[in-house]
Amino acid sequence: MADWPERVDVREVGPRDGLQNEAPIPVERRVELIDALSHTGLRRIEAAAFVSPRAIPPMAGADDVMAAIDRVAGVVYSVLVPNPEGAKRAVTARADEIELVVSASETHNQKNVRRSVAESLTGAHDVVEIAHAGGIAAEAIVATAFGCPYEGDVAPERVGQVAGHLVDAGADRLSFGDTTGMATPRRVNDLLDALERAGIAVDRIGLHFHDTRGTALANVVAALERGVTSFDASVGGLGGCPYAPGASGNAVTEDLVHMLHDMGIATGIDLDALVECARLAQSIIGRELPGAVLHAGPRTRKYAS
Ligand code: COA
Ligand code: ZN
Repeated sequence: MADWPERVDVREVGPRDGLQNEAPIPVERRVELIDALSHTGLRRIEAAAFVSPRAIPPMAGADDVMAAIDRVAGVVYSVLVPNPEGAKRAVTARADEIELVVSASETHNQKNVRRSVAESLTGAHDVVEIAHAGGIAAEAIVATAFGCPYEGDVAPERVGQVAGHLVDAGADRLSFGDTTGMATPRRVNDLLDALERAGIAVDRIGLHFHDTRGTALANVVAALERGVTSFDASVGGLGGCPYAPGASGNAVTEDLVHMLHDMGIATGIDLDALVECARLAQSIIGRELPGAVLHAGPRTRKYAS
């Protein structure tokens, strides 16, 4: 049997990555979802995005969301930011961590944050400094790390270079986003090789897969075998990126947790409580979500014979 880690850190990104792609949901219901997720044993929740409300209308009211959530001790509430203004708002809102997003591909960065990659990287230092001065951690997200919907494949070396600049800018951790589900296990290995060559330690790397082409959990297993222990997922499979045509939901949190537990890998998360959150997410957005365990039940579910 492969050498899997004993424990994995799952970050729930549904309240941000998921809901940013839906019709705007009232603040109270976003808070209700975050509060329910806070009681599942999850230790990291991406709660909001401090971005332009004109760019991403569903993320309007991020300050109100952060003010209203019932913070549970031991849970880190992170927020996505694109620029220094976002970082300042995040500090004021008492986020525990910011996630600064920069794309590895030029066209996606331009569409997403209306800057060149070079401009975003130059600004990264200021963003990290604002977070650290405000006493909060700064993660950098490299989007389109496994390919770009406008440019196709993105060379792993290029992703390594962007990551290196973000480390130089002071980022505490790095996350690599498969924005439109272009990764396969082979490409996970290629990227991890390139990051190793760039000198980025595996314990600073988180991975963010979308299940657009059904490869998200296969990618997770490939990464586990390389020692990665930090993964993003969204409850029920909410998710996407509004500036990425063809994007769909993230890896499904409850499907990921269900698989990890059966592999003997601890997450600290209560699967039943998570499935209840997926049902809540369905009722909030008013449509069925793609989560598999949500519909099929866990593998030991018994049917009347
Ligand atoms: N939060 C809230 N408002 C912001 C902001 C932030 N982080 N950054 C800029 N703004 C506001 C400015 O105050 C300004 O408002 P005004 O017109 O009322 O004066 C307006 O947005 C334009 O500012 P500017 O700096 O010119 O931004 P822009 O139009 O070049 O847009 C971004 C750049 C980064 C703000 C915008 O593209 C954005 O928010 N992108 C986020 C995309 C995203 O979240 N994608 C999903 C993640 S994959
Ligand atoms: Zn995403």
